[in-house]
Amino acid sequence: MGDSPSRSFRDSSPDAGASPHQDQSAAGSLHRRAVLGSALALSACGPGAKSQTVPADLPPLKAVAPFRIGTCVQALHLDDPSFVALARRQVNQLTPEWQMKMEYIVQPDGTFRFDAPDRIAAFAQANGMGLLGHTLVWYAQAPDAFARLDERRVSFEQAYRNYILAVAGRYAGRVVGWDVVNEAVAEDGNGWRDSLWSQRLGAFEHIALAYRFAREADPHAPLLLNDYNLEYIPRKRATFLKLAERLLASGAPLTGLGAQTHVAADITPGKIAEMIRDLASLGLPIHLSELDVSITRSENRLLSREDLRNRQARVYGEAAEAMMALPERQRFALTLWGLRDQDSWLHQENASDSPAPFDEQGRPKAGAAALVRTFRA
Ligand code: G3I
Repeated sequence: MGDSPSRSFRDSSPDAGASPHQDQSAAGSLHRRAVLGSALALSACGPGAKSQTVPADLPPLKAVAPFRIGTCVQALHLDDPSFVALARRQVNQLTPEWQMKMEYIVQPDGTFRFDAPDRIAAFAQANGMGLLGHTLVWYAQAPDAFARLDERRVSFEQAYRNYILAVAGRYAGRVVGWDVVNEAVAEDGNGWRDSLWSQRLGAFEHIALAYRFAREADPHAPLLLNDYNLEYIPRKRATFLKLAERLLASGAPLTGLGAQTHVAADITPGKIAEMIRDLASLGLPIHLSELDVSITRSENRLLSREDLRNRQARVYGEAAEAMMALPERQRFALTLWGLRDQDSWLHQENASDSPAPFDEQGRPKAGAAALVRTFRA
């Protein structure tokens, strides 16, 4: 890709911007039930618990799914031959896990760096995989380069536009879509999140502007709105849909919805399907954008590790069924947020969690088999 004019800021040292999702567990967002001090609870998370595997000759996910199958990826994963082999076999879409975000791109001196996202984009192109841009605007990342902007030199809106044009323009024509705005809705669904962007450009305006600038940068890319806990918190889902409707009514080029779907294995059956059905009511393509199914974030302390692993597989199956139930034109993609257990952000948080559909050796688990079974049904 050609070098886009890299715009820069003055007087800044952006902070990395920690993920806001440490408390994103089902427990974090729902009232934690009384923890029963049962022996099961202690045995449920034994690090030695062996992973359930299924025949290693399970067909690749991308071969049986009638829509794109993605995974998140970091540049360092591309130096891991076993990851590369598994990704090439299983998926046909990639989402940069963090290196296409402001925390990576915006440097302390206000300039931009693109080495890692460029490498991921090149790998995707070389391997015939789609690239999902993630994410242009996120309340959780507001580098000092913006907060300390010297507005005598450039207005805040111009700097915001410059950033979006620089990043979305750099990958124009090479992405299957953009998460233009990530997590705009308040945690409990009561309105929208407050952020540097909303404070400086307006609660709704900063969102509408982001879609306008992204379209200016890339005339054809699908432009999505992405959020989480839409299955767990109906009020949040309703507010998300109202925001999407308002964007559409305002003429913003919103062309898809992303439901992250970070869930726990003990999620009530049917919640994911209900959420996907609701989101699909607007008629836009749906991206199940960050699917993982935590074992250790499950709240039901009476379930054994085996129970939770069985439930985990069923949850992967339900997610696939929910996508299969959509009209073809609304099936954007299903993206896994971590192919193998050790690749997952949840595994970084709790090494005894095993949220992914493939185990440490890249062998398919029951979750992968459930995905394949559903796609082939
Ligand atoms: O790799 C560097 C390491 O070299 C360095 O020493 C270390 C300390 O600075 O940082 C490491 O990078 C971290 C990166 O994850 C890789 O582990 C970043 O600091 C850290 O911010 C980054 O966190 C990511 C987080 O979003 C924030 O960007 C997680 O990987 C990623 O899984 C998470 O993904 C989010 C989605 O974007 C939105 N939905 C929720 C989801 C989970 O929180």
